[in-house]
Amino acid sequence: MIHARIVGTGSHLPGDPVTNDDLVRRGIDTSDEWITTRTGIRARHFAEPGSRTSELALIAARQAIEAADCAADDIDLIIVATSTPDFIFPSTATLVQAGLGIKNNCAAFDVQAVCSGFVYALATAEKFIRSGSHRRALVIGTEVFSNILDWADRSTCVLFGDGAGAVVLEATDEPGVRAVALHADGRLHPELWVPGNVVGGQVKGDPFLRMNGQTVFKFAVRVLDEVAQEVAALANVPQDSIDWLVPHQANIRIIQSTAKRLGLSMEKVVTTVDIHGNTSAASIPLALDCAIRDGRIRPGHRIVVEGIGGGFTWGAALIDF
Ligand code: ACO
Repeated sequence: MIHARIVGTGSHLPGDPVTNDDLVRRGIDTSDEWITTRTGIRARHFAEPGSRTSELALIAARQAIEAADCAADDIDLIIVATSTPDFIFPSTATLVQAGLGIKNNCAAFDVQAVCSGFVYALATAEKFIRSGSHRRALVIGTEVFSNILDWADRSTCVLFGDGAGAVVLEATDEPGVRAVALHADGRLHPELWVPGNVVGGQVKGDPFLRMNGQTVFKFAVRVLDEVAQEVAALANVPQDSIDWLVPHQANIRIIQSTAKRLGLSMEKVVTTVDIHGNTSAASIPLALDCAIRDGRIRPGHRIVVEGIGGGFTWGAALIDF
């Protein structure tokens, strides 16, 4: 039986950290106290204006390929999760493929599931690998969310940041990704969205992220522990065998509430929301890479990654690392 294992990770955060006080100095009507107590965010990173999502992705991808100890040409599938692609088309994945100089047979496409995008992309890549059609996938979450933030809307612009994270998933005999669960409820799309579009050469509608924060909060708290329990049941493993929860990094209060409902100590939860903010599809692979590189997550550990985002979409994967 073919399994899919994570064999390398990488990540990239552009520029210097921008603290909450820096935002106040930039003229946003907020305070470190408001942001920290409500969200746990102390800092985030922003790409230089004009930066492209694929540029961040490429740096993370090169690191992941190096950590996987393979060559770029060994990759035969690239899936990029992003809500802030370089262009309407082509996909950001094809730009990453070109940047890596991959000339061999390699499929490349984007998935769009907002903050759950990495989990959706990982689940897709895992199925390609398990089918036997592909052997080595590069799965990337990458965002320049600053491009869709309205700096006049203090209720959203303080929450997000830019970044990229990548994993290499390889075909092996040993179990790696043991279970995935994906969900969506499109009825809720106006609770968290960018309502604008390009029509007839013009931006039609609102080009900025809009969110009903309280609805998102309540929904996230309800589904994130359910979906973590779901993948443990699907994998047929006890919940207390989970070594690490690597959740989407939106808000420390959502993360704490999920951990509490799961009966998991916060010592078993990887959190980077304090230093990264919410980087949407990039947040899980960024957090995963941090915890692998600093030695917390080690070979043999059991991990659950989980996310929720616009759509709404949500999902989780249980992985033996
Ligand atoms: N600084 C200071 N005051 C602010 C700010 C700010 N940045 N933003 C809003 N306020 C004010 C509001 O104007 C309001 O003032 P008022 O009472 O005088 O009208 C007050 O703070 C309370 O506003 P609420 O929106 O009710 O604040 P709430 O306690 O709900 O917190 C927050 C807002 C942090 C967004 C919260 O709802 C939340 O975390 N929601 C989860 C959403 C989330 O994390 N989304 C991320 C994207 S989705 C995802 O990744 C899953």
